[in-house]
Amino acid sequence: MSDDRIISGSETNDDGVLDVALRPKKMDEYIGQNNVKANLKIAIEAAKKRGEPIEHVLLYGAPGLGKTTLAHILANELGANIKITSGPAIEKSGDLAAILTNLSEGDILFIDEIHRLNKVVEEILYPAMEDYALDIIIGKGPSARTLRINLPRITIIGATTKMSLLSAPLRDRFGMVFHLNFYEQADIEKIINRNAKILKIDIVQDAAQEIAKRSRRTPRVANRLLKRVRDYCDVKDDGAIKINTCQSAFAMLEVDELGLDWVDRKILETIIEKYDGGPVGLNTISAATGEDMATVEDVYEPYLMQLGFLDRSPRGRIATDNAYKHLGRERRGGQNKLV
Ligand SMILES: Nc1ncnc2c1ncn2[C@@H]1O[C@H](COP(=O)(O)OP(=O)(O)O)[C@@H](O)[C@H]1O
Ligand SMILES: [Mg+2]
Repeated sequence: MSDDRIISGSETNDDGVLDVALRPKKMDEYIGQNNVKANLKIAIEAAKKRGEPIEHVLLYGAPGLGKTTLAHILANELGANIKITSGPAIEKSGDLAAILTNLSEGDILFIDEIHRLNKVVEEILYPAMEDYALDIIIGKGPSARTLRINLPRITIIGATTKMSLLSAPLRDRFGMVFHLNFYEQADIEKIINRNAKILKIDIVQDAAQEIAKRSRRTPRVANRLLKRVRDYCDVKDDGAIKINTCQSAFAMLEVDELGLDWVDRKILETIIEKYDGGPVGLNTISAATGEDMATVEDVYEPYLMQLGFLDRSPRGRIATDNAYKHLGRERRGGQNKLV
């Protein structure tokens, strides 16, 4: 599975401790995403002024961009309790009803991977979000009736990597919807420097830049690379991260200067060499790399598209001129194939 791969934005087993240690606690420590922060700051102020909970918030964006972090920061800034759950963890509507009835006024319920809530559970959420109420069905068949229970006024924060899988009625119940973008290189550099300080790592500026370039514009990847390079420098050198040791660490990890690893390269090579640039179906790419289709689609392709190396068309994936250039390949026949 790609999940333990170093450049994956998804959380892996040994990220847990690191994520918690490095997670910014206040809005001002959260680097980048300025537009999202500005909007949320206003919402926080307004809610505080009125003494009301803030509206429900939906955060969406690729893994590792800071959705969970932002949910915690919101709770922190509002002085609210936060309860964490996730779409797949709530199996029955009774589970969600139990969670909701245990919350207090102003609490936040963070539902990660909210697109994976099952339909029946999701329907419990509608009145909870809209009217702060729970509709319980008592009895079965023709004699069944609904009992409405009032809930405390709470805020739901939903996070998703796949906005397209969220049902429209659920999406519409969020007062605020924010898309987290991939980060600017300069912001990733700031994050690396901040975290090096927290972890007491000595790092020169060029080395921070080298790591930032390879971080796929994703904070979680930056944190992980920082840690792996530090390990390497501890073993091979005196622990301080210098540019040379940093580069040999990346050579060993097989992460290139854009943060691509062998699976990314294999994807592009498959399209270019076997299919003359494409279009190639997702299943073919999946077979060539040994990664399942969902992983190729969610983990690899977003960044390759972000780099402008890959296009998705109705007939399949296409390698762009930039991809040819990056791999040092020429288009066959010397002419630009129409794509
Ligand atoms: N804006 C940010 N500024 C600083 N660090 C960040 C930022 N966003 C994310 N991080 C770091 O990246 C890690 C992963 O973020 P997380 O919120 O868990 O991502 P997501 O929930 O979107 O997958 C966090 O532990 C944190 O250290
Ligand atoms: Mg998360």
